[in-house]
Amino acid sequence: MKDQTALEMGEGIYGVGVKDWDLKIFDALISLPYGTSYNSYLVKGKQKTALIDTVKPVFGEEMIEKIKQVADPSDIDYLVMNHAEPDHAGSIPAILEMSKKAVLITSEKGAGMAKLYYNVPEDRIRKVKEGDSIDLGGRTLRFIDAPWLHWPETMFTYLVEDKVLFPCDFFGGHTAAGSYDEDVDEIVSYAKRYYGEIMMPYRMMGKKAMDKVKALDIRMIAPSHGPVYKNPAKIMEPYSKWTSGETKKKALLVFVSMWGSTAKMIKTMAETLVSEGVEVIQHDLTTADTGDIAKDLVDSRAIVLGAPTVLGGMHPLAIYGASLVKALRPPVKYGAFVGSYGWGSCAGKEAVEILKPAKIEIVGALEVNGPPTAADLSKVVEIGRQLAAKINSEA
Ligand code: FEO
Repeated sequence: MKDQTALEMGEGIYGVGVKDWDLKIFDALISLPYGTSYNSYLVKGKQKTALIDTVKPVFGEEMIEKIKQVADPSDIDYLVMNHAEPDHAGSIPAILEMSKKAVLITSEKGAGMAKLYYNVPEDRIRKVKEGDSIDLGGRTLRFIDAPWLHWPETMFTYLVEDKVLFPCDFFGGHTAAGSYDEDVDEIVSYAKRYYGEIMMPYRMMGKKAMDKVKALDIRMIAPSHGPVYKNPAKIMEPYSKWTSGETKKKALLVFVSMWGSTAKMIKTMAETLVSEGVEVIQHDLTTADTGDIAKDLVDSRAIVLGAPTVLGGMHPLAIYGASLVKALRPPVKYGAFVGSYGWGSCAGKEAVEILKPAKIEIVGALEVNGPPTAADLSKVVEIGRQLAAKINSEA
């Protein structure tokens, strides 16, 4: 389904990006239940025209058709590359081909990537740094260093007079629905999922970027995925919490069970935590959506991993789950492990080893031989109570 009309966000400011309803998985890792969009923005000044980011190459023609509705593509003076990943920078060669005078505006690191990935010649690149600006004629583009969100070269662009922030992936959300935040009921939930998947591993850089963003007067936030925010506070407030590493009295229970023994221990753990006033979210790794786990990791204070030992190690799905937690670097503080084994146990040791770099305090670990007995489940209750005490020790 195509949305073929350029979006007029204000006089001389247009959304010329595209919607991708058909993409089902991103980065070969994250499912996209609602598709996504690749947003590109055209800004016209009295003298100059700038295009901010582009789209995935396969959609290049669609973007150019939209540009043609509001400007002559051969008349683009500046092509701003906030981020070099192909979903935003992949159509740079097409634009530079159409507009022979266009100059690519990017960060120092971005310049290297533009040459490497898109063969942009040196003489068509202008490097910018924090605070640099470009005058379009009555309109000013100012550039903000925002490295590692989520690649090293990333930067934001701020349209000063109109108070519009173009932060590329930051504040983004994977959904093809709607044009503005008010069109999409679940937009903050989608943005949280996106944050967990993409930005959470770089939380400290996100916090620094938030400090810069908060100092700006912003009327509109135009990210590169999902709708444009007419109400910036709607996304800035949750981002402020997420990048600060604020957690809730919430535990994420992630498990896999072959014959129900580990599942029984997880059930007991869940009941114990709930009875102690802790919010519990469960994900069975046999059917869990990676994006949902990422979303729930954003504000969980604790994680419980449940896994049997099989084939001489922790169940492969649990290895994946633990590795995901390690990679996403959530602000989780406390953890526990439960699992069962037939004739040899090692899953607990393996889980602790994988999670070690995540700096999660392991409150308790229990492995039982075969189905858990009443005495085993009492031990689970005890670990659950200890975990709840840790979780509830903070506001
Ligand atoms: Fe949406 Fe990092 O590209």
